[in-house]
Amino acid sequence: MDRKDDAPAYPVGLRLAGRRVVVVGGGQVAQRRLPALLSAGADVVLVAPEATPSVEAMAEAGELRWERRPYRTGDLAEAWYALVATRDPAANAAASAEAEERRVWCVRSDDANAASAWTPATGRTDGVTVAVLSGRDPRRSAAVRDAVVEGLRDGSLVAPRHRDRTAGVALVGGGPGDPDLITVRGRRLLAEADVVIADRLGPRDLLDELPPHVEVIDAAKIPYGRAMAQEAINAALIEHAKAGKAVVRLKGGDPFVFGRGMEEAEALAAAGIPVSVVPGISSSISVPGAAGIPVTHRGVAHEFTVVSGHVAPDDARSLVDWPALARMRGTLVLLMAVERIGAIADALIAGGRPAGTPVAVVQEGTTAAQRRVDATLASVARIVTEEGVRPPAVIVVGDVVTVGRPGGTYTEGNVHG
Ligand SMILES: C[S@@+](CC[C@H](N)C(=O)[O-])C[C@H]1O[C@@H](n2cnc3c(N)ncnc32)[C@H](O)[C@@H]1O
Repeated sequence: MDRKDDAPAYPVGLRLAGRRVVVVGGGQVAQRRLPALLSAGADVVLVAPEATPSVEAMAEAGELRWERRPYRTGDLAEAWYALVATRDPAANAAASAEAEERRVWCVRSDDANAASAWTPATGRTDGVTVAVLSGRDPRRSAAVRDAVVEGLRDGSLVAPRHRDRTAGVALVGGGPGDPDLITVRGRRLLAEADVVIADRLGPRDLLDELPPHVEVIDAAKIPYGRAMAQEAINAALIEHAKAGKAVVRLKGGDPFVFGRGMEEAEALAAAGIPVSVVPGISSSISVPGAAGIPVTHRGVAHEFTVVSGHVAPDDARSLVDWPALARMRGTLVLLMAVERIGAIADALIAGGRPAGTPVAVVQEGTTAAQRRVDATLASVARIVTEEGVRPPAVIVVGDVVTVGRPGGTYTEGNVHG
């Protein structure tokens, strides 16, 4: 039968583990292709008088066997698959003729038409291999591959698992609020979820993008009767996971920074539910950063301390050593502190921090509503009231606050919002 050169290639996944693959030529092409052959477990023999330093390193590490000489007839005797890529067209032609005769599938770098196999543009993410062939346009193949792999990674291409989907709960840190500031893994898990239980903080906009079958539950609205709100959230997580659902517990910032993430993980583990944790970008660093404040800066602050202002300094339940914090020179980052900032500023001044220490309050950082209000320790309580600052806000205390202000080093145009 006649061979039609314009017929499309037939795609197949080769299982090369333990099978001989012969690579003829040790240049850039071999260097690019070898890692995938090796990770497929192929028994690689390289035939080449010389090789690039990376290829040499693979041989030295024992990852492949290197025959340090030119190709000769018979080299493909044991091969299942061959890659021919030398600078010598005659050697390439001879090797691919041997492959044809022995019925060994052969890729040829110098003449795609003369080859019996083509290498697709490939990528792997989360257990999926993407392989793209587009005739003779390798750049287009690579572009399609990139689009699919990126889409799978960031969840914009929704391809839920059906076989090895495990029910359970993922505690996902959603970042400070800007939907672009969630991790790639977090976003993908969100796209694959059946149920999402979300806090008020975090990337709420992402919830609107979820497909209609996903049940989105507002954690603050779960009825809890006489139980604690947290117990009701734990119970809801357990109930949905036990029903075989893939559950995402979407939290603001990082799940383990004042997020009760470990309490939820422990409750789930006690109920025998598989739980995974996906870290998130904490507001404690990203919100100051988005407002132009570095939490550390060479010559200004070599330490930063993240403190909860949830409990007032004079409250017996407080676990914070305010006098010690007042004695430190570094940056203080206060979360959940808007309502108690007067008492906190008083405690810091009483403990020795100068009343003129710069303070910045950043409300709803990284969102379109972000705003920053500047003050000093002495004036912050008054200014927060006058300006009507409301939670959520991160309060930064220390000289880093003035680093990016006029006269400092920061360019205002970079500030988000
Ligand atoms: C319960 S804590 C959770 C912190 C979160 N786990 C994190 O790592 O960012 C909530 C506090 O985080 C701060 N916060 C979170 N997101 C914020 C944002 N976008 N802008 C300003 N403050 C934020 C506020 O101080 C808020 O009161």
